[in-house]
Amino acid sequence: MVNPTPKQDWRERKKRGERITALTAYDYPIGRLLDEIGIDIILVGDSVGMVVLGYEDTTEVTLAEMLHHTRAVARGVKRALLVADMPINTYNDAKQAVQSAHELVQAGAAAVKLEGGASHVAQIRAIVGAGVPVMGHIGMLPQSVRLEGGYKLKGRTPGEVEMLRNDALAVQAAGAFAVVLEIVAKEAARQITSAIEIPTIGIGSGDNCDGQILVTHDLIGLFPWFTPKFVAPEARVADEIRRAAQVFIERTRHGDVKVQEASLPAN
Ligand code: KIV
Repeated sequence: MVNPTPKQDWRERKKRGERITALTAYDYPIGRLLDEIGIDIILVGDSVGMVVLGYEDTTEVTLAEMLHHTRAVARGVKRALLVADMPINTYNDAKQAVQSAHELVQAGAAAVKLEGGASHVAQIRAIVGAGVPVMGHIGMLPQSVRLEGGYKLKGRTPGEVEMLRNDALAVQAAGAFAVVLEIVAKEAARQITSAIEIPTIGIGSGDNCDGQILVTHDLIGLFPWFTPKFVAPEARVADEIRRAAQVFIERTRHGDVKVQEASLPAN
């Protein structure tokens, strides 16, 4: 079944209590695998900067890099909703936001995601008005990590909960079809989820959200140097890569080449 377009049915799914599943992809094979197994939403996250490109955080990711990875994932996705992250400094005002969103759509995205709540209503409204569905993102905002001095839990005090609820309502009123809650206290996430009609997609925000998203590299153990505390990896792919490469190195050094000579057609 093809996923609902953002405008139509995500609110209905929330009403029916159907949990929404989302994972990141940055290349063709992972995009295709996730699509084939039936994930609802595939996000080409700007986390690509950290887990693929080796940057310290997401603040160095460029639009050109996001376009490159979005094109690769799009080639493998037929069914899931493909959302592309808008990198930092590509949506500083409404005009720039619409231009950047259009470029991501031309690269194959069906929707875009941007970080910010009430402060970014003009950008969300403009992108949605230009016909591109928007996913909001509130709570801990990775693009602000340097300003904030780290990845900190949000929604611990009544004042913070109130601000987050207002952000969620503002993002909804601006026309977003869903909103990511990143590293928000569990009780705050519950309150926000029940205060709005669009689905909340949690990451490190407990189990009261309408859906969950993770960075796939964290879920499958493909970035072994750092795993966020809230992730329980389901696989150890980095260990498998090390093991297979080690076997290849040993075999090659001992002249034990298992692969037969390629049988190419004779000229
Ligand atoms: O960039 C990303 O991968 C994200 C998700 C973790 C929500 O924004």
